[in-house]
Amino acid sequence: MKEAIEKITAELEELKCATRKEVEEARVRFLGRKGEVTALFEQFRTVAPEQKREFGKKLNELKQAVTARIEALKDSVEESVSASGPSEDLTMPGDPFPLGSRHPVSIVREQIVDIFRKFGYDVAEGPEIEDDYHVFEALNFPQNHPARDMQDTFFVSTGHVNPLLLRTHTSSVQVREMESKSLPIRVICPGRVFRNEAISARAHCIFHQVEGLYIDKGVTFADLKQAILLFAREMFGSDTQIRMRPSYFPFTEPSSEVDVSCNICHGKGCNICKGTGWLEILGCGMVDPNVLEASGIDSKVYSGFAFGMGIERIAMLKWQVNDLRHYFENDMRFLREFDTATEV
Ligand code: PHE
Repeated sequence: MKEAIEKITAELEELKCATRKEVEEARVRFLGRKGEVTALFEQFRTVAPEQKREFGKKLNELKQAVTARIEALKDSVEESVSASGPSEDLTMPGDPFPLGSRHPVSIVREQIVDIFRKFGYDVAEGPEIEDDYHVFEALNFPQNHPARDMQDTFFVSTGHVNPLLLRTHTSSVQVREMESKSLPIRVICPGRVFRNEAISARAHCIFHQVEGLYIDKGVTFADLKQAILLFAREMFGSDTQIRMRPSYFPFTEPSSEVDVSCNICHGKGCNICKGTGWLEILGCGMVDPNVLEASGIDSKVYSGFAFGMGIERIAMLKWQVNDLRHYFENDMRFLREFDTATEV
Protein backbone atom coordinates (compact mmCIF):
# COMPACT_ATOMS: atom_id res chain seq x y z
CA MET A 1 0.00 0.00 0.00
CA LYS A 2 2.89 2.28 0.83
CA GLU A 3 4.31 1.85 -2.68
CA ALA A 4 0.94 2.44 -4.24
CA ILE A 5 0.55 5.73 -2.36
CA GLU A 6 4.04 6.83 -3.39
CA LYS A 7 3.41 5.85 -6.99
CA ILE A 8 0.23 7.93 -7.15
CA THR A 9 1.93 10.86 -5.44
CA ALA A 10 4.71 10.76 -8.03
CA GLU A 11 2.28 10.48 -10.91
CA LEU A 12 0.34 13.40 -9.54
CA GLU A 13 3.36 15.64 -9.85
CA GLU A 14 3.87 14.63 -13.45
CA LEU A 15 0.19 15.02 -14.29
CA LYS A 16 -0.52 17.49 -17.12
CA CYS A 17 -3.84 18.32 -18.72
CA ALA A 18 -4.49 20.54 -21.69
CA THR A 19 -8.26 20.38 -21.88
CA ARG A 20 -11.25 20.16 -19.58
CA LYS A 21 -11.84 16.69 -20.92
CA GLU A 22 -8.39 15.53 -19.83
CA VAL A 23 -8.91 16.98 -16.34
CA GLU A 24 -12.15 15.07 -16.07
CA GLU A 25 -10.45 11.87 -17.22
CA ALA A 26 -7.77 12.32 -14.55
CA ARG A 27 -10.43 12.88 -11.91
CA VAL A 28 -12.17 9.66 -12.90
CA ARG A 29 -8.87 7.77 -13.00
CA PHE A 30 -8.00 8.67 -9.40
CA LEU A 31 -11.22 9.53 -7.62
CA GLY A 32 -13.93 7.86 -9.72
CA ARG A 33 -15.90 4.89 -8.43
CA LYS A 34 -13.27 2.54 -9.87
CA GLY A 35 -10.44 5.04 -9.48
CA GLU A 36 -6.99 4.25 -8.07
CA VAL A 37 -7.42 6.25 -4.87
CA THR A 38 -10.88 4.80 -4.33
CA ALA A 39 -9.35 1.32 -4.72
CA LEU A 40 -6.82 2.08 -1.99
CA PHE A 41 -9.63 3.03 0.37
CA GLU A 42 -11.14 -0.40 -0.40
CA GLN A 43 -7.82 -2.08 0.40
CA PHE A 44 -7.55 -0.14 3.61
CA ARG A 45 -10.11 -2.50 5.14
CA THR A 46 -7.56 -5.34 4.94
CA VAL A 47 -4.73 -3.39 6.54
CA ALA A 48 -3.49 -4.80 9.84
CA PRO A 49 -5.05 -2.98 12.81
CA GLU A 50 -1.72 -1.64 14.13
CA GLN A 51 -1.00 -0.01 10.73
CA LYS A 52 -4.45 1.49 10.28
CA ARG A 53 -3.58 4.74 11.98
CA GLU A 54 -0.51 5.39 9.84
CA PHE A 55 -2.11 4.42 6.55
CA GLY A 56 -5.40 6.09 7.33
CA LYS A 57 -3.59 9.39 7.72
CA LYS A 58 -1.55 8.87 4.54
CA LEU A 59 -4.62 7.92 2.53
CA ASN A 60 -6.55 10.98 3.63
CA GLU A 61 -3.59 13.18 2.78
CA LEU A 62 -3.35 11.54 -0.62
CA LYS A 63 -7.01 12.10 -1.33
CA GLN A 64 -6.72 15.77 -0.38
CA ALA A 65 -3.63 16.17 -2.53
CA VAL A 66 -5.31 14.56 -5.55
CA THR A 67 -8.44 16.69 -5.14
CA ALA A 68 -6.40 19.89 -4.82
CA ARG A 69 -4.29 19.02 -7.87
CA ILE A 70 -7.36 18.29 -10.00
CA GLU A 71 -8.94 21.61 -8.97
CA ALA A 72 -5.70 23.45 -9.80
CA LEU A 73 -5.54 21.76 -13.20
CA LYS A 74 -9.15 22.66 -13.89
CA ASP A 75 -8.44 26.32 -13.10
CA SER A 76 -5.34 26.46 -15.27
CA VAL A 77 -7.17 24.85 -18.20
CA GLU A 78 -10.01 27.39 -17.90
CA GLU A 79 -7.57 30.27 -17.72
CA SER A 80 -5.77 29.18 -20.83
CA VAL A 81 -9.11 28.77 -22.64
CA SER A 82 -10.10 32.34 -21.83
CA ALA A 83 -6.60 33.62 -22.54
CA SER A 84 -6.69 32.10 -26.00
CA GLY A 85 -9.94 33.96 -26.74
CA PRO A 86 -13.56 32.84 -26.93
CA SER A 87 -14.13 29.28 -28.03
CA GLU A 88 -17.13 30.24 -30.14
CA ASP A 89 -17.24 32.12 -33.40
CA LEU A 90 -18.84 35.42 -32.48
CA THR A 91 -19.25 36.39 -36.10
CA MET A 92 -21.88 33.67 -36.58
CA PRO A 93 -25.40 35.04 -37.12
CA GLY A 94 -27.52 34.97 -33.97
CA ASP A 95 -30.73 33.03 -33.47
CA PRO A 96 -33.57 34.76 -35.28
CA PHE A 97 -35.55 37.02 -32.95
CA PRO A 98 -39.06 37.66 -34.25
CA LEU A 99 -39.91 41.36 -34.28
CA GLY A 100 -43.36 42.53 -33.35
CA SER A 101 -45.22 45.04 -35.46
CA ARG A 102 -47.48 47.94 -34.70
CA HIS A 103 -51.22 47.40 -34.56
CA PRO A 104 -53.01 48.63 -37.70
CA VAL A 105 -55.06 51.07 -35.60
CA SER A 106 -51.82 52.57 -34.22
CA ILE A 107 -50.34 52.79 -37.72
CA VAL A 108 -53.34 54.74 -39.02
CA ARG A 109 -53.59 56.92 -35.90
CA GLU A 110 -49.97 57.94 -36.30
CA GLN A 111 -50.52 58.68 -39.96
CA ILE A 112 -53.51 60.91 -39.21
CA VAL A 113 -51.65 62.66 -36.40
CA ASP A 114 -48.59 63.21 -38.62
CA ILE A 115 -50.70 64.79 -41.36
CA PHE A 116 -52.31 67.26 -38.96
CA ARG A 117 -48.98 67.96 -37.24
CA LYS A 118 -47.69 69.10 -40.63
CA PHE A 119 -50.64 71.50 -40.78
CA GLY A 120 -49.56 72.93 -37.41
CA TYR A 121 -51.95 71.14 -35.05
CA ASP A 122 -50.94 70.19 -31.49
CA VAL A 123 -51.93 66.83 -30.01
CA ALA A 124 -54.00 66.68 -26.80
CA GLU A 125 -55.24 63.78 -24.70
CA GLY A 126 -57.77 63.57 -21.92
CA PRO A 127 -59.47 61.12 -19.54
CA GLU A 128 -61.44 58.11 -20.84
CA ILE A 129 -63.69 58.23 -17.78
CA GLU A 130 -65.28 61.62 -18.15
CA ASP A 131 -68.13 63.56 -16.64
CA ASP A 132 -71.43 64.38 -18.29
CA TYR A 133 -70.48 68.05 -18.47
CA HIS A 134 -67.45 67.56 -20.76
CA VAL A 135 -69.03 64.89 -22.97
CA PHE A 136 -72.51 66.43 -23.34
CA GLU A 137 -73.45 69.56 -21.42
CA ALA A 138 -70.60 71.82 -22.61
CA LEU A 139 -71.16 70.57 -26.16
CA ASN A 140 -74.70 71.90 -26.32
CA PHE A 141 -76.47 68.66 -25.43
CA PRO A 142 -78.91 69.88 -22.78
CA GLN A 143 -80.37 67.35 -20.31
CA ASN A 144 -82.98 65.15 -21.98
CA HIS A 145 -81.99 66.38 -25.43
CA PRO A 146 -82.85 63.63 -27.94
CA ALA A 147 -79.39 63.94 -29.53
CA ARG A 148 -77.96 62.19 -26.45
CA ASP A 149 -79.48 59.02 -27.84
CA MET A 150 -77.22 59.29 -30.89
CA GLN A 151 -74.42 58.07 -28.64
CA ASP A 152 -75.48 55.23 -26.37
CA THR A 153 -73.51 55.82 -23.24
CA PHE A 154 -71.93 53.56 -20.61
CA PHE A 155 -72.49 55.24 -17.27
CA VAL A 156 -70.01 54.67 -14.46
CA SER A 157 -72.04 56.43 -11.80
CA THR A 158 -75.55 57.83 -12.09
CA GLY A 159 -77.96 59.65 -9.86
CA HIS A 160 -76.22 62.99 -9.53
CA VAL A 161 -76.11 66.13 -11.65
CA ASN A 162 -72.80 65.41 -13.31
CA PRO A 163 -72.52 61.61 -13.56
CA LEU A 164 -69.29 59.87 -14.58
CA LEU A 165 -69.33 57.97 -17.86
CA LEU A 166 -67.05 56.46 -20.48
CA ARG A 167 -66.52 59.16 -23.07
CA THR A 168 -68.47 58.56 -26.28
CA HIS A 169 -66.23 60.86 -28.31
CA THR A 170 -63.00 62.76 -27.83
CA SER A 171 -64.84 66.07 -28.24
CA SER A 172 -64.59 66.13 -24.44
CA VAL A 173 -60.84 66.71 -24.83
CA GLN A 174 -61.60 69.67 -27.09
CA VAL A 175 -63.77 71.16 -24.33
CA ARG A 176 -60.89 70.76 -21.87
CA GLU A 177 -58.57 72.49 -24.35
CA MET A 178 -61.00 75.40 -24.80
CA GLU A 179 -61.27 75.75 -21.02
CA SER A 180 -57.55 75.73 -20.35
CA LYS A 181 -55.62 77.04 -23.37
CA SER A 182 -55.25 80.51 -24.74
CA LEU A 183 -56.48 81.34 -28.24
CA PRO A 184 -55.95 80.59 -31.06
CA ILE A 185 -56.37 76.83 -30.60
CA ARG A 186 -55.38 74.30 -33.21
CA VAL A 187 -55.46 70.81 -31.77
CA ILE A 188 -56.23 67.18 -32.56
CA CYS A 189 -57.42 64.69 -29.96
CA PRO A 190 -56.75 61.01 -30.69
CA GLY A 191 -58.14 58.48 -28.25
CA ARG A 192 -60.30 55.53 -27.31
CA VAL A 193 -64.05 55.97 -27.03
CA PHE A 194 -66.92 53.80 -25.85
CA ARG A 195 -70.51 53.34 -26.99
CA ASN A 196 -73.09 50.88 -25.82
CA GLU A 197 -73.66 49.26 -29.20
CA ALA A 198 -74.15 45.66 -30.22
CA ILE A 199 -70.89 44.31 -31.65
CA SER A 200 -71.09 43.61 -35.38
CA ALA A 201 -68.94 43.82 -38.50
CA ARG A 202 -69.64 47.55 -38.66
CA ALA A 203 -69.90 48.60 -35.00
CA HIS A 204 -68.07 47.94 -31.75
CA CYS A 205 -68.51 49.13 -28.20
CA ILE A 206 -64.89 50.35 -28.16
CA PHE A 207 -63.22 52.20 -30.98
CA HIS A 208 -60.76 55.02 -31.62
CA GLN A 209 -61.23 58.53 -32.89
CA VAL A 210 -59.21 61.51 -33.95
CA GLU A 211 -61.11 64.74 -33.51
CA GLY A 212 -59.80 68.19 -34.40
CA LEU A 213 -60.55 71.77 -33.42
CA TYR A 214 -59.41 75.09 -34.84
CA ILE A 215 -60.51 78.35 -33.22
CA ASP A 216 -59.25 81.79 -34.21
CA LYS A 217 -60.57 85.14 -35.44
CA GLY A 218 -62.23 84.84 -38.83
CA VAL A 219 -62.20 81.05 -39.31
CA THR A 220 -64.76 80.13 -41.99
CA PHE A 221 -66.39 77.10 -43.54
CA ALA A 222 -64.02 77.51 -46.50
CA ASP A 223 -61.07 76.89 -44.11
CA LEU A 224 -62.78 73.74 -42.87
CA LYS A 225 -63.34 72.50 -46.39
CA GLN A 226 -59.74 73.14 -47.35
CA ALA A 227 -58.36 71.42 -44.24
CA ILE A 228 -60.48 68.32 -44.89
CA LEU A 229 -59.58 68.24 -48.59
CA LEU A 230 -55.85 68.47 -47.84
CA PHE A 231 -56.17 65.77 -45.20
CA ALA A 232 -58.10 63.45 -47.55
CA ARG A 233 -55.49 63.88 -50.29
CA GLU A 234 -52.60 63.16 -47.89
CA MET A 235 -54.39 60.11 -46.54
CA PHE A 236 -55.96 58.55 -49.61
CA GLY A 237 -53.95 59.93 -52.56
CA SER A 238 -53.54 63.23 -54.41
CA ASP A 239 -56.43 62.69 -56.83
CA THR A 240 -58.98 62.17 -54.02
CA GLN A 241 -62.18 64.24 -54.22
CA ILE A 242 -64.38 65.16 -51.25
CA ARG A 243 -68.11 65.63 -51.00
CA MET A 244 -69.90 67.34 -48.13
CA ARG A 245 -73.44 66.45 -47.15
CA PRO A 246 -75.51 68.48 -44.68
CA SER A 247 -75.84 66.78 -41.30
CA TYR A 248 -76.60 67.51 -37.68
CA PHE A 249 -74.48 67.59 -34.52
CA PRO A 250 -75.53 69.60 -31.45
CA PHE A 251 -72.06 71.16 -31.15
CA THR A 252 -71.64 72.41 -34.73
CA GLU A 253 -73.74 74.64 -36.95
CA PRO A 254 -73.78 74.17 -39.87
CA SER A 255 -72.74 70.51 -39.72
CA SER A 256 -71.65 68.21 -42.46
CA GLU A 257 -70.67 64.66 -43.19
CA VAL A 258 -67.76 64.15 -45.54
CA ASP A 259 -67.30 61.45 -48.16
CA VAL A 260 -64.13 60.78 -50.14
CA SER A 261 -64.12 59.41 -53.66
CA CYS A 262 -63.68 55.64 -53.51
CA ASN A 263 -59.98 54.95 -53.92
CA ILE A 264 -60.69 51.35 -54.91
CA CYS A 265 -62.92 51.80 -57.97
CA HIS A 266 -62.13 55.50 -58.50
CA GLY A 267 -65.79 56.40 -58.68
CA LYS A 268 -66.96 53.62 -60.96
CA GLY A 269 -68.78 51.83 -58.16
CA CYS A 270 -67.63 48.68 -56.30
CA ASN A 271 -68.81 46.63 -53.34
CA ILE A 272 -66.70 48.61 -50.85
CA CYS A 273 -68.46 51.89 -51.77
CA LYS A 274 -71.69 49.95 -52.46
CA GLY A 275 -71.78 51.17 -56.01
CA THR A 276 -71.92 54.85 -55.08
CA GLY A 277 -68.29 55.80 -55.77
CA TRP A 278 -68.13 57.57 -52.35
CA LEU A 279 -67.01 56.52 -48.84
CA GLU A 280 -68.05 58.33 -45.67
CA ILE A 281 -65.04 59.26 -43.51
CA LEU A 282 -65.93 61.95 -40.99
CA GLY A 283 -68.31 64.43 -39.43
CA CYS A 284 -67.52 68.13 -39.09
CA GLY A 285 -68.92 71.64 -38.85
CA MET A 286 -68.49 75.17 -37.55
CA VAL A 287 -68.34 75.19 -33.74
CA ASP A 288 -71.75 76.28 -32.40
CA PRO A 289 -71.53 79.71 -30.65
CA ASN A 290 -73.15 78.10 -27.57
CA VAL A 291 -70.17 75.74 -27.29
CA LEU A 292 -67.67 78.58 -27.51
CA GLU A 293 -69.57 80.61 -24.90
CA ALA A 294 -69.86 77.61 -22.53
CA SER A 295 -66.04 77.50 -22.41
CA GLY A 296 -65.71 81.26 -21.97
CA ILE A 297 -64.81 82.16 -25.57
CA ASP A 298 -66.40 85.28 -27.06
CA SER A 299 -68.33 83.98 -30.07
CA LYS A 300 -68.63 87.48 -31.53
CA VAL A 301 -64.85 87.70 -31.88
CA TYR A 302 -63.86 84.08 -32.45
CA SER A 303 -65.13 81.30 -34.68
CA GLY A 304 -63.87 77.81 -35.39
CA PHE A 305 -64.40 74.47 -36.94
CA ALA A 306 -64.31 70.92 -35.58
CA PHE A 307 -64.20 67.49 -37.13
CA GLY A 308 -64.11 63.90 -35.93
CA MET A 309 -63.35 60.56 -37.51
CA GLY A 310 -63.18 56.91 -36.48
CA ILE A 311 -59.69 55.45 -36.86
CA GLU A 312 -60.94 51.89 -37.47
CA ARG A 313 -63.17 53.18 -40.25
CA ILE A 314 -60.24 54.87 -42.01
CA ALA A 315 -58.13 51.74 -41.49
CA MET A 316 -60.89 49.56 -42.95
CA LEU A 317 -61.05 51.73 -46.05
CA LYS A 318 -57.30 51.89 -46.36
CA TRP A 319 -56.76 48.13 -46.22
CA GLN A 320 -60.20 47.03 -47.40
CA VAL A 321 -60.92 45.12 -44.21
CA ASN A 322 -64.59 44.21 -44.21
CA ASP A 323 -65.08 43.35 -40.54
CA LEU A 324 -64.31 45.82 -37.74
CA ARG A 325 -64.02 43.01 -35.19
CA HIS A 326 -60.66 41.91 -36.63
CA TYR A 327 -59.10 44.99 -35.05
CA PHE A 328 -60.01 43.86 -31.55
CA GLU A 329 -59.48 40.11 -31.61
CA ASN A 330 -55.67 40.06 -31.70
CA ASP A 331 -55.54 37.18 -34.14
CA MET A 332 -51.85 36.94 -35.01
CA ARG A 333 -52.61 35.90 -38.59
CA PHE A 334 -54.45 39.19 -39.11
CA LEU A 335 -51.93 41.37 -37.24
CA ARG A 336 -48.96 39.89 -39.11
CA GLU A 337 -50.37 41.19 -42.37
CA PHE A 338 -49.40 44.68 -41.23
CA ASP A 339 -45.73 43.86 -40.56
CA THR A 340 -44.66 45.80 -43.59
CA ALA A 341 -47.80 47.88 -44.04
CA THR A 342 -47.16 51.04 -46.02
CA GLU A 343 -49.15 53.58 -47.96
CA VAL A 344 -52.01 52.32 -50.12
N1 PHE B 1 -68.07 64.02 -32.05
C1 PHE B 1 -68.68 63.50 -33.25
C2 PHE B 1 -68.91 62.02 -33.09
O1 PHE B 1 -68.25 61.39 -32.30
C3 PHE B 1 -67.86 63.76 -34.47
C4 PHE B 1 -67.75 65.21 -34.79
C5 PHE B 1 -66.73 65.97 -34.25
C6 PHE B 1 -68.66 65.83 -35.61
C7 PHE B 1 -66.64 67.32 -34.52
C8 PHE B 1 -68.58 67.15 -35.90
C9 PHE B 1 -67.56 67.90 -35.36
O2 PHE B 1 -69.72 61.43 -33.75
